[in-house]
Amino acid sequence: MRVPYISFLLLTANIVASLPNPGHSNSRKAPDTVVIDGYRLVDIQAQLNRGDLSLKASLGHLVAQADSWLNQGPWTVTSKAKAPPNGTIHDYASQAPYWWPNPNTPDGCPYIQKDGVRNPEVDNYPDKINSIKLFNSTYVLALAWYYTGNPKYSYHAAEIIRTWFLDTKTAMNPNLDHAQIIPCANTGRSIGIIDFSQDYTEVIDAVAILNTGAPGWSKADAAAFQEWNKRFLLWLAYSPFGVKESSATNNHGTFANMQITALALFTCNHSLALTKAELAKEFINNQVTSNGSQPQELARTRSFHYSNFDLTAHLRWALIARKVGVDLFKYKGPQGQTLFKAVNFLVPAATGGASDWAYPELQFTQYAATDNIHAAAQEGDLTAKEAVKNLTPPPGGDIFLLRQAPQQLDNINTT
Ligand SMILES: *[C@@H]1O[C@H](CO)[C@@H](O)[C@H](O)[C@H]1NC(C)=O
Ligand SMILES: *[C@@H]1O[C@H](CO)[C@@H](O)[C@H](O)[C@H]1NC(C)=O
Ligand SMILES: *[C@@H]1O[C@H](CO)[C@@H](O)[C@H](O)[C@H]1NC(C)=O
Ligand SMILES: *[C@@H]1O[C@H](CO)[C@@H](O)[C@H](O)[C@H]1NC(C)=O
Repeated sequence: MRVPYISFLLLTANIVASLPNPGHSNSRKAPDTVVIDGYRLVDIQAQLNRGDLSLKASLGHLVAQADSWLNQGPWTVTSKAKAPPNGTIHDYASQAPYWWPNPNTPDGCPYIQKDGVRNPEVDNYPDKINSIKLFNSTYVLALAWYYTGNPKYSYHAAEIIRTWFLDTKTAMNPNLDHAQIIPCANTGRSIGIIDFSQDYTEVIDAVAILNTGAPGWSKADAAAFQEWNKRFLLWLAYSPFGVKESSATNNHGTFANMQITALALFTCNHSLALTKAELAKEFINNQVTSNGSQPQELARTRSFHYSNFDLTAHLRWALIARKVGVDLFKYKGPQGQTLFKAVNFLVPAATGGASDWAYPELQFTQYAATDNIHAAAQEGDLTAKEAVKNLTPPPGGDIFLLRQAPQQLDNINTT
């Protein structure tokens, strides 16, 4: 298409004109990001500073996304109308969306399940919707600051993070005791950990980027955020809910253990990071077959979504594990299973669409695979490299090259 090319040049000119100080970063050290490779961020920035046109479209998307967050947030778990049962207003809370009051009992107990039908009561706990905004906005804002040097992005990211995690009046307690509540039946469930594990590493990487000297984010903020995560890690690794979720053998277990590995690395617990990085091999052995299929996820009604979802956790886990010397990209299971095979299994549908997907899928979303294919291509997989030029961009544009780690692009609405 020709028209976007013109507007892309105009957009590029605007972005370059708005850079307060191009080249500001030459002396900056690589961020200690736990998922993204910090050296890749440094390289990309050098490339942008040289005026590399191949990245300008991605930068345009990133800056547009960041701009869209400037007048939103900060958010806090204390904004909900009431505390969860047996919790405080500072506890994160979410309610299972498909459970409804029983029409045949005076008190509505026990709740009954209507699969796929969302109960609006869930809105009494806006924490989940707000957390999705927290994850996405902090990531995009920190990256936008990193590449443009414009402090308006880092100031806003810092305010969002301080409000959610650190300010005494508004801070979240470091636990997920009250996630995915089913009223009458419980005051939270272990599976609710996925509310965080699916995207929380984005906040960790955002903070690692801000830690390289971002205006608005102080050393005291950085230290307080570390402390918060040490406590959160203890809860994730050793609380009954944390232990139960980590022992799940499906995508819940992949995400939970990936998240623990990330937090162990972030809080400098090398031995825990290493143990958990090694555990990733068991998940490859048990979840991926020799032809790259993920049978547990193929059995779902949203099999393309879930195959990509679980793989996103694996690929992030591999990026984290490499930082403690465990190479999961090269790892081969006993039947020859590899992460690249799991990615290649998705390539035909990622490039060809729904007609190339032979499994149940209620709502095929082609771009669900985009970041996973990018991630395998980046690590040298030839099939993925070949596929990259035929990928479908997600809403808001393809920004993979500016944050070289797979994000969960098709967030299915379980809020
Ligand atoms: C709250 O905790 C108490 C004591 O642990 C327990 O007896 C009670 O059932 C809990 N309430 C709810 C709503 O689960
Ligand atoms: C690191 O994690 C291990 C458990 O795997 C724990 O025993 C140890 O206390 C942790 N170390 C620190 C410094 O927190
Ligand atoms: C992949 O391997 C699994 C397990 O061996 C098998 O059930 C499935 O039919 C294979 N799928 C394809 C497309 O070959
Ligand atoms: C993050 O937010 C931006 C701006 O609203 C949006 O374009 C983008 O699709 C979101 N990304 C994800 C992964 O949800």
